[in-house]
Amino acid sequence: MTSIQRAERRFLEAVSRAASRSPESNGTGPGTVRIADPWNLLPDEQRALADGLNGPAGAVVFQSEKLPVNGEKHPLAGLADGLRLHGKRLLPKALDTADPDGTAKVFSKGHDWVAEAQSDRFLDVHQDGVSIFGVLAVTGLWTDVAPARSAITFTQNLVTRALELRRSDEDAFRSLFDPEAISLTRKSDGAVLKRPVLYVRHGLPAAFFRGPGEQYLVEPGARVPGAARGYEYLERHTNLDERADGIFAVELDTPGKGILFSNIECVHGRSSFVNGADPTQQRRIAGSWWSLSRSDAKVPWGTPRRTVWPFPRRSGFATSRWGA
Ligand SMILES: [Fe+2]
Repeated sequence: MTSIQRAERRFLEAVSRAASRSPESNGTGPGTVRIADPWNLLPDEQRALADGLNGPAGAVVFQSEKLPVNGEKHPLAGLADGLRLHGKRLLPKALDTADPDGTAKVFSKGHDWVAEAQSDRFLDVHQDGVSIFGVLAVTGLWTDVAPARSAITFTQNLVTRALELRRSDEDAFRSLFDPEAISLTRKSDGAVLKRPVLYVRHGLPAAFFRGPGEQYLVEPGARVPGAARGYEYLERHTNLDERADGIFAVELDTPGKGILFSNIECVHGRSSFVNGADPTQQRRIAGSWWSLSRSDAKVPWGTPRRTVWPFPRRSGFATSRWGA
């Protein structure tokens, strides 16, 4: 058995374990979980959040009736503390630059700002924590202020999609385990990262992918059989315009509306949005993150894990680690 076949077998075993720990999907698709009081989640509310997070989308939208109180801890900061990701407990990831309310704020610094994540422009699919690869298991986003014209925020569960690819093109699926399945070249300095798309993280099935965007050139491994087809499949299924199977889209257009998603299974992005002149119409999203182990929860932000991420540390690089 080759190392790629072994990686494939480990992944499929992790898929079986995750499925056995996850609730059955009722097949009705994404709905919005209504939360009366986010500081005191009711068992039904918590179950509905867990069902969505552990379902085929790996994501769930919520709308809270109560809103954050100035000067107090933001309710998003503790929202996923009682949840499990396929049976694994989620631990809050401390932030290095947190707002006094305990969340990180994501907002536009202007249309021409260098990084899409900090502008009002389209932000192609990515995973949070690119420099602390795999550490951020779950992302939570909460609308503090909605813009004049909202973005479409969208996610795609690549573990679910990859298993679907396996049914029609087994070679393309297998190519995603190759150590050079995908290649990212950072445009600013030419640094290159090659790695598998599908892998196992703390016993759970996980996927790594990124849309081309403005910062990276993203390509399938040139010498990997089937990789071009695998890459084309992933790219097609993460294209918001095509609204491919499994695209999970929401407009974060109301204060208290938010999304939780599995950052190790899903990629996410958003369309452009329009801020108004008034601060009450300038998009501000609160973000919180959760990890799957105590050691992950302690990994400092912006620390490249050199075994998987050979990029040199640079000032400015870490600023694009999240975006919503
Ligand atoms: Fe993001």
